[in-house]
Amino acid sequence: MNGDLFADLEPGQGCEALGLDAFILRRFALPSEQLLWQDLQLVLARAPMRHMVTPGGFRMSVAMSNAGSLGWVSDKTGYRYDEIDPVSGLPWPAIPTSFMALAAQAAHHAGFKAFQPDACLINRYAPESKLSLHQDKNELDFTQPIVSVSLGLSATFLFGGALRTDKPLRTILQHGDVVVWGGASRLNYHGILPIKPGRHPLVGECRINLTFRHAGR
Ligand code: SIN
Ligand code: FE2
Repeated sequence: MNGDLFADLEPGQGCEALGLDAFILRRFALPSEQLLWQDLQLVLARAPMRHMVTPGGFRMSVAMSNAGSLGWVSDKTGYRYDEIDPVSGLPWPAIPTSFMALAAQAAHHAGFKAFQPDACLINRYAPESKLSLHQDKNELDFTQPIVSVSLGLSATFLFGGALRTDKPLRTILQHGDVVVWGGASRLNYHGILPIKPGRHPLVGECRINLTFRHAGR
């Protein structure tokens, strides 16, 4: 397990600080890339990627799916978490154990003990797609952090403050990088600039992001 490499470190050590209670664990997911990739294909076979529609009626450039007892969905009625995949009419696939282990280890290294995600949002960015600055605030429990795993093409991640007008920091996220934020930063604005075209040997011509959260009660 990759976590064992860091077993002697104090929480937050070996992490790059991004803000208060916010860290980047560079390349943390790299040792498990093959397993994550295989498990991702199993999830997507049951809950294929789709382009959701915003409450304003716009098709999102990022394609999405979910694993977990709750999945994030957007449609004309708004954003919400739902137990049912509206495309299949079935519950979302369970979060694979490889995903759970990685998310829990990453949270632990960033100082968040006992992270229990019940939702894993899967984002796929084709070249030119982006995610505008937003807060993750549809979850019921803000005491648990957000763990975000980057795979495939690199992206510029914007990490702002609690206000939309706070000037965001910019950092490049590469294949295998994991960002963890919670506590004082839990509601910070964040986003992804348009992805530059390229090809990643494992993931192909896109970026995949796995975002773990505790959304329910
Ligand atoms: C998100 O905010 O949901 C995803 C961020 C990312 O793709 O890194
Ligand atoms: Fe987000």
